[in-house]
Amino acid sequence: MNALLRDLADPAPSAFAQRRARLAQCMAEHGGGIAVLPTAPERLRNGDSDFPYRFDSHFHYLSGFAEPQAWLVIASDGRSTLFCRPKDVEREIWDGIRLGPDAAPAALGVDEAFPIALLDEKLPQLLANQGTVWFPFGLHAELPARLEGWLAVLRGRSRLGLECPSAQRDLNVLLDELRLVKDDDEIATMRRAAGISANAHVRAMRYCAARLRGGAASVREYEIEAELLHEFRRHGAQSPAYTSIVAAGANACVLHYAAGDAELRPGQLCLIDAGCEFDGYASDVTRTFPADGRFTSAQRELYDIVLAAQQAAVDMTKPGARQRDAHHAAVRVLAQGMLDSGLLDRAKVGDVDAVVESTAYRQFYMHGTGHWIGRDVHDVGNYLSLGEAPFEQADGLGGKVVKKPSRILRPGMVVTLEPGLYVRPADGVPERFWNIGIRIEDDAVVTASGCELISRGVPVEAEDIEALMRG
Ligand code: GLY
Ligand code: MN
Ligand code: MN
Repeated sequence: MNALLRDLADPAPSAFAQRRARLAQCMAEHGGGIAVLPTAPERLRNGDSDFPYRFDSHFHYLSGFAEPQAWLVIASDGRSTLFCRPKDVEREIWDGIRLGPDAAPAALGVDEAFPIALLDEKLPQLLANQGTVWFPFGLHAELPARLEGWLAVLRGRSRLGLECPSAQRDLNVLLDELRLVKDDDEIATMRRAAGISANAHVRAMRYCAARLRGGAASVREYEIEAELLHEFRRHGAQSPAYTSIVAAGANACVLHYAAGDAELRPGQLCLIDAGCEFDGYASDVTRTFPADGRFTSAQRELYDIVLAAQQAAVDMTKPGARQRDAHHAAVRVLAQGMLDSGLLDRAKVGDVDAVVESTAYRQFYMHGTGHWIGRDVHDVGNYLSLGEAPFEQADGLGGKVVKKPSRILRPGMVVTLEPGLYVRPADGVPERFWNIGIRIEDDAVVTASGCELISRGVPVEAEDIEALMRG
């Protein structure tokens, strides 16, 4: 049989069909049943204008279907049913082409598809004689009431031999776990998203350098943000994955600062934390660079501490290590750097062990070193290894706290590594460091032997940033 005929006769299941099959198998291993999940609603912005539409992450992970007003039903025997908007010539003139239920099985690989208007009629039939209904708890406000309505219909028909499911279970527990380990298609898409974001950071650095070299006294944060957005869209990214942070000078010490209209001037640092979303996958990248392309000695001293902390986190990001090991490694390097630079006074806080134990480092580093990333910038997936015994740890106040170990990394997990230092003016803090805020963030795919930093298309070493900006 030639390749084309083989494809027609026996199409390879798409990544989406494979994910549905994996979910069905997970449900079967947990007692069986049927999963029901909607996509995200459209949201009114004001008047008759909506916010840009973004599908639900679980729904799109399983279907690849990006239209609103759709539901997916997957039984543990593997059968899948989609409900979607019907074809409608009038509405398609205004809002765009719809796939429609007739075309959906061939396009998406689902077994059946119906118009969304038949949801209330079909769901009781689909739920009948399934022991358990799985749905994502806490994500869709209207779902429990809809489900209760379908179950009420079934209860009313029990004398017809249709049994109502007797259990409801949280689908997030299964889907979060599946989504935590990315398949090859997902990693390829994440690599693309991270590559676009890295290019956008390069563009922003070059833009600042060119403007200031060209005689401008300053550059506004929003101008820099425009460069990022331009680069995202130019390469097909659908949107930013989160609100872009472009922080001039002291604004970098506000962790969730959104690009505003502040002026970035020569001599200041610019912190950009921005990443695009590409085909439903986030990237999350931070670089901190001197506006005019040259770090001052104080900036450089702290920059190199943060970079060393990130390298320590990279070294701990490998199969078999725990997710939290990267944070502990980064904290140790940052704490040592705080002592060496004089940010912390050794006479007051003691040595590096004491700084870590007392959490004195939190004056300048108050967030974690990373998070899962995938469809959501802070992606789903438990951080704790729930099956393992808890352990005791010093609480920094002379007492102990009981903690669960964080989970062990496996190939295919994707994390961010994002240490930083944020120096607010304060008594006892050397003035030359005041108002410096630095973060360096990359996206790391855990591989068989370590990790791959997929966002390193933008330089990270201080000399390389300076060289880029000179060029
Ligand atoms: N940009 C959000 C974060 O770094 O977690
Ligand atoms: Mn970030
Ligand atoms: Mn992040």
